Parts: sequence; C-alpha cells; structure tokens
Amino acid sequence: MSSPPVSLPRLRRFSLVVLCLLAVLVAFLWQWIQPSRSPQHAEPAQVVVNVSEQPILPIPLMVELDARQVALGDRLFHEPRLSKNNQTSCASCHNLSTGGADRKVRSVGFSGATTKVNAPTVFNSGFNFRQNWDGRFETLEAQTDASILSPVLMGGEWSEVIDKLKQEPDYVQTFAQIYPDGITRDNVNHAIATFERSLYTPNSRFDRYLKGDDTALTADEKQGYEIFRDYGCASCHQGMNIGGNLYQQFGVMGNYLANRTITPADFGRFNVTGKESDRFVFRVPSLRNVTLTPPYFHDGSAETLEKAVEVMAQYQLGRSLEPQQVNQLVQFLNTLTGGYQGKPL
Ligand code: HEC
Ligand code: HEC
Repeated sequence: MSSPPVSLPRLRRFSLVVLCLLAVLVAFLWQWIQPSRSPQHAEPAQVVVNVSEQPILPIPLMVELDARQVALGDRLFHEPRLSKNNQTSCASCHNLSTGGADRKVRSVGFSGATTKVNAPTVFNSGFNFRQNWDGRFETLEAQTDASILSPVLMGGEWSEVIDKLKQEPDYVQTFAQIYPDGITRDNVNHAIATFERSLYTPNSRFDRYLKGDDTALTADEKQGYEIFRDYGCASCHQGMNIGGNLYQQFGVMGNYLANRTITPADFGRFNVTGKESDRFVFRVPSLRNVTLTPPYFHDGSAETLEKAVEVMAQYQLGRSLEPQQVNQLVQFLNTLTGGYQGKPL
C-alpha cells in the first residue's frame, strides 16, 4: 500500500515550524551583525555623547588671536567716524548686547535708508565659510570693506576715513605699534575682522552636552535635538556653527515667498553668480545664539522662533510638526546660546 498523502494541516504545521526557526535564525544573525543595538550591549543610562558621531561640533574654548589687534578692532567696530556723517558704527546694527544684531526687520543706515535684508549676527561670523546671506564675501576683511563703503550702511570713503582716524593721535600710535605701515585701508579692515574672529561664543549648554555632560540638557531639549537630527534639520544646519557652511535653496518643498511680492534681494545667491540654479539659494545661517536675534530669515519675516521652526519644517522638509515638537525644537535651539568673554550672552 502506498503511504497516505501528507495531510494539509500537517503541512501547514510543518511550514509554521520552519518559519519560526527561520525567524529565530534571522533575529540571531541581526544581533550578531548589529552588536551595538542589541539589548545585551545596551549602554548605561548615562550615555556619554560621542562627539565624532554628531553632526554638530562644539566651539573651541579658546581661539588664538593677537590681543592688540582685537582691542583695536573692537574700538573701530564701535567707531562712528567710519561712516560718512560720523553717526553710524558697525555696532549700530550689530549690537553685542542684543546678540550681535539689531532685532529689526530691516536695519537703518547712516542716512536713514533701510537695508534690503535683515542684519545677521556678527557673533561666530569667523566660523562661516562665506559672509552675507548670499555668500558674497569670502573673508571678513572684504565684508568689512564693503560695509564701510556701502551707500546704504555707512557711506564711507576710504580717503576720508583714514584722514579722520589720523586726526586722533591715539589711533596713529596704536596702529603704528601693531602695523608697520600704520593707518591704512587694509589694516583697518584687518583689525575689525580680527575683532570679529574674537566674537566666538563657546560653552553653550548644548556644547557641554556634546562634550559629555548629560545633565546640561533637559529631557525636552534632548527630544528637540533628536527631532533636529532625525527630521533632517541637521542636514543643512550642521558643523561648528550649526549652519554657515553650505548653500541651500529657501523653499525646497514649496514657495515660502508666494504670498508677497518678490524683490531682487530674495534671489539670494543668484545675485552673485547669475546662475538660474542659484535663484532663492542662501547660505544656510548659523543657529548659534539664534534665540537672541529675532526676527528671522533674510527678509525678517518670521517674528518668533516658533514661526521660523514651523516654516523650516514645512518649506525645507515638507513636514508639519505637532505643537509639542515645535516647542521642543525651540527649547533645543535655546540651548545653543553660548558665552562671550566668559559671560553668558
Ligand atoms: C546699517 C546697518 C549696518 C551697519 C552699519 C553694518 N552692518 Fe553688517 N550687516 C548689515 C546687514 C543688513 C547685513 C546683511 C547683508 C546681506 O547679507 O546682504 C550685514 C551683514 C554683516 C556680516 C555678515 C554676517 C553673516 O553671517 O553673513 C558681517 C560680518 C557684518 N555685517 C559686519 C559688519 C561690520 C564689520 C560693519 C562695520 C564696518 C557693519 N557690519 C556695519 C547691517 C549693517
Ligand atoms: C534644505 C536645507 C534646510 C533644512 C532642512 C532646514 N533649514 Fe533652516 N534654514 C535654511 C536656510 C537656507 C535658511 C535661510 C532662509 C532665508 O532666510 O532665506 C534657514 C533659516 C533657518 C532659521 C532662521 C535663522 C535666522 O537667523 O534667521 C532657523 C531658526 C532655522 N532655519 C531652523 C531650522 C530647523 C529647526 C529645521 C528643521 C525643522 C531647519 N531649519 C531645516 C536651510 C535649511
């Protein structure tokens, strides 16, 4: 007699067992390939953040600079005589006690004319790979030169500026001590740029967290950082300045400017290169100390950080956030405020 055909229920049971065995095998292999993720290798609750794995780097506690150049640059940065009518200094728009900016939608220059874009902070500008919203300037020196000459900002003229500085014996002496050729256009620009390079703000709570102090952030702030990383904010806002090292389009996932008249200032990097692909492209701004410098964006159109975060999620990432997530992101951004000369900003 031939053996009876295998019954259907038995076949099912058999394949179920095989499937289970396979599942166990796969699970085992997975743990073996991914030892760091397996529960056996779980890290203790107090995780020390591995800086090298983070998209953001802490600001160094110390940047070596010539103290005499910094001090002279500090004076020049606050010197209204660099402007046409001796009324406006760099600090008029980049006030160090208000986060290095002026908290206005547009700034007002020496003659009362307004700027076409919002004033960014000068803090940590030395870490940006290019200066200005459109990345027009490669160096802080070139940026300073253009700010003094700008017919909107200061209306300065170099022969006049140098004459005015030479009338002050103290300037003549101080320049001579530092620069062999004394008061020159290049030396003024160099001293101011050196001062700007001294405007770095280390020791933010977030930097302390990056360096291993797990208590530096609250649970909500950590959650905010997680969203910042996982949703992709950090793909644009990254590196030591949490920005300042890339160009990106404003409005990757939609046209933020659709509701108002577009001005040439909105063209961003297109104004520098003339390339169609650079239209609406901007240097990604740094988010260090960002809480201190409302309003936000090149056009100052976001009054609050909450609004800026919502716009970013929608137009840069194509996502909408829960109110709690916006709140956590804002709390995280608030931990990026550092110190200047040992004091919190
Ligand atoms: C009337 C206001 C005003 C004055 C005065 C002024 N600035 Fe600015 N500053 C601005 C504005 C507005 C921008 C943005 C310009 C742009 O991106 O097109 C800017 C941009 C900058 C930036 C670029 C920062 C970044 O993140 O890209 C630096 C650095 C800077 N200014 C330094 C200076 C210095 C140094 C002086 C004095 C020599 C000065 N500014 C004078 C308003 C001003
Ligand atoms: C695709 C790149 C990109 C992504 C992703 C991105 N940003 Fe931005 N972010 C930019 C650019 C570019 C600007 C400048 C836009 C402008 O003003 O023209 C900016 C501006 C900002 C500003 C305003 C800064 C200031 O000083 O005015 C904040 C705050 C900000 N982003 C936060 C975020 C957050 C939070 C996320 C994630 C939800 C995010 N960004 C995602 C590119 C990006």
